[in-house]
Amino acid sequence: MTIKINPLKPEKRQSCPEEFSFGVTFSDHMFTQEFDEGKGWHDALISPYHSLLLAPSAAVFHYSQEIFEGLKAYRKPSGGINLFRPQENVKRFNRSAKRMVMPEIEEDFHLEAIKSLVNLDQNWVPDKEGSSLYIRPTMIATSPKLGLGASSSYTHFIIAGPAGSYFKEGLSPISVYVADEYRRAVKGGVGEAKTGGNYAASLYASEDVIKLGYSQVLWLDAIEGRFIEEVGAMNICFVYEGTHIYTPSLSGSILPGITRDSILKLAPTLGYEISEQRLDIEQILADIDSGKITEVFGCGTAAVIAPVGKLSFKSKEYVINNNQAGEVAKRLHDELTGIQYGTREDKFGWIESI
Ligand code: PLP
Ligand code: COI
Repeated sequence: MTIKINPLKPEKRQSCPEEFSFGVTFSDHMFTQEFDEGKGWHDALISPYHSLLLAPSAAVFHYSQEIFEGLKAYRKPSGGINLFRPQENVKRFNRSAKRMVMPEIEEDFHLEAIKSLVNLDQNWVPDKEGSSLYIRPTMIATSPKLGLGASSSYTHFIIAGPAGSYFKEGLSPISVYVADEYRRAVKGGVGEAKTGGNYAASLYASEDVIKLGYSQVLWLDAIEGRFIEEVGAMNICFVYEGTHIYTPSLSGSILPGITRDSILKLAPTLGYEISEQRLDIEQILADIDSGKITEVFGCGTAAVIAPVGKLSFKSKEYVINNNQAGEVAKRLHDELTGIQYGTREDKFGWIESI
């Protein structure tokens, strides 16, 4: 299938504004295609950013059959634009689609759609340090029917918008609240799919802790309430003695983060040991108290690498590294973003240039 391009007239096109914050401003164009049972995907189109017209009975509004992805385009200081491991996003999109009984999208075609959109809207890729164009591929169920069952029609769209720091703290450490009452996902459920319902389910606890001054919730496993899973919008890592990085193993209920995977591959090349295993919250808190844990940081596409300066659990606060960003997080941040912006060697072949 070819992608039809219906661009804005050159005089109507805009470029990235001077000031922006994550996820509120969108570029000039978007990609859309439609799926109908018996017909497959059709009408691939890049056209000006617009609202969608959907029946109030569309399945997505009632039963949340929806998936999404998040990836970024980075402007190289030397010119040109980089995408970071976009194949992993289109693969994960298909894994999420399968879990949510939605039609898959041919990986190369999905990548072509992302690249064509970024190429057309390249004026929107910011050049401010630490900024990027955040790309959001999404699929929604559109069948106008209230009977419970998989939809027979879907819309796939891709939008993009400039992004700076995800947290108001910037690169300063964030405070994280460990949920003791609420749970995000359970093994056998949809926690490892990138589907909106996981995020909707997290809002009740997240909004409560934001009022208390915390940025995110750290979720524990839903069966024993004991093992660490992930943070609202990122995976999490614990650094022991400045040398050994631990992150929860993929339990089936956490999102297999692409940033997490990149850290697991990158860290050993910088001399760090890495372990993926079940991490008991009580042990982790004891190891923070005893000083064995020297750093904690979250990692994700939107968040990049976010040092965690405080963890709160059952009304007690645990301060990590004097609430300062640590050396390991800083080094990994610099190495990872260096690869993304093309200022450091891409030994892993992670970059796709546009
Ligand atoms: N966990 C959750 C719940 C997320 O929303 C994200 C962000 O996408 C991540 C982890 C990190 O995943 P990635 O590194 O692929 O962005
Ligand atoms: C991302 O990091 O891409 C995400 O999807 C997290 C989202 C909650 C902003």
